[in-house]
Amino acid sequence: EMPSHDDLVLAERPAAGVLLLTLNRPEKLNALSKALLSTLRDRLAVAEADGSIGCVVLTGAGRAFAAGADIHDMLARGLASYADPERLASWRAIEAFAKPMIAAINGYALGGGLELALLCDILLASEVARFATPEIKLGSFPGDGGTQRLPRLVGQSFAMQMVLTGAMVDAVLAERKGLVSEVLAAERLLPRALEIAGDIACRSVAITPLAKRAVRAAAEAPLAEGLAIEHALVVDSFATEDRTEGLRAFAEKREPVFRGR
Ligand code: CAA
Repeated sequence: EMPSHDDLVLAERPAAGVLLLTLNRPEKLNALSKALLSTLRDRLAVAEADGSIGCVVLTGAGRAFAAGADIHDMLARGLASYADPERLASWRAIEAFAKPMIAAINGYALGGGLELALLCDILLASEVARFATPEIKLGSFPGDGGTQRLPRLVGQSFAMQMVLTGAMVDAVLAERKGLVSEVLAAERLLPRALEIAGDIACRSVAITPLAKRAVRAAAEAPLAEGLAIEHALVVDSFATEDRTEGLRAFAEKREPVFRGR
């Protein structure tokens, strides 16, 4: 029987429609072991299937959001650690999570930890958060999406600087470069993340994943293709009851009652 790793990612329901997931390996700065990643994948699969969850907030216990891939496992297993099919499947599943996900970056987001944050849709940073791709110092470079997603967000020059030097970036600079959308005092980070998540969760859970896919296409597709994706998703939205309800509620000057379909 497989050991249970449920405690590696804590799950709470702090507000209606919101799931708070906390990476919980603080003694190792939430280094992304295979077990931690597969636990996160499992948690997200449950959240995806649960119609009462409209938004996920992802944060880290202790001093780190996540300090990257597990260096000790890479040392022990080499390429088999990086190319582990189950590890890669976990990453792909986290990337494919359909509902909105907010990263509440409480501390270090390094290497794979930054790459995990880059899979989230909205990035918020505590003023003590630190960002880097330190792999170059280990004779490596980002391998879980960082070399592709960072330049799309912060531009080629700053991304190159991060990847080639491994230097730490503080929260204020991260916000200036567009890596995060807000910087908050440490004690305000989670309340603000939950507030935004609550705003998202009270919208239609049939519609927010379509909006997420449309905005994501901007980073992943050429313009003409992205516009076609946007158009197709908006057409899809007309097939939902919630779209009709939203328009009708406006006309009737009342709050909409969304049913997620
Ligand atoms: N993997 C495994 N363990 C890690 C880790 C990681 N990425 N990062 C930190 N830890 C462990 C440390 O080994 C230490 O454990 P022990 O107490 O058992 O020795 C514990 O977490 C606390 O860390 P430190 O004692 O180092 O804490 P510090 O405050 O002195 O330093 C730090 C903090 C600067 C973040 C430092 O821990 C650090 O540099 N960590 C590594 C960051 C890094 O290089 N990340 C990239 C990993 S490679 C990657 O992600 C690869 C890829 O895409 C292919």
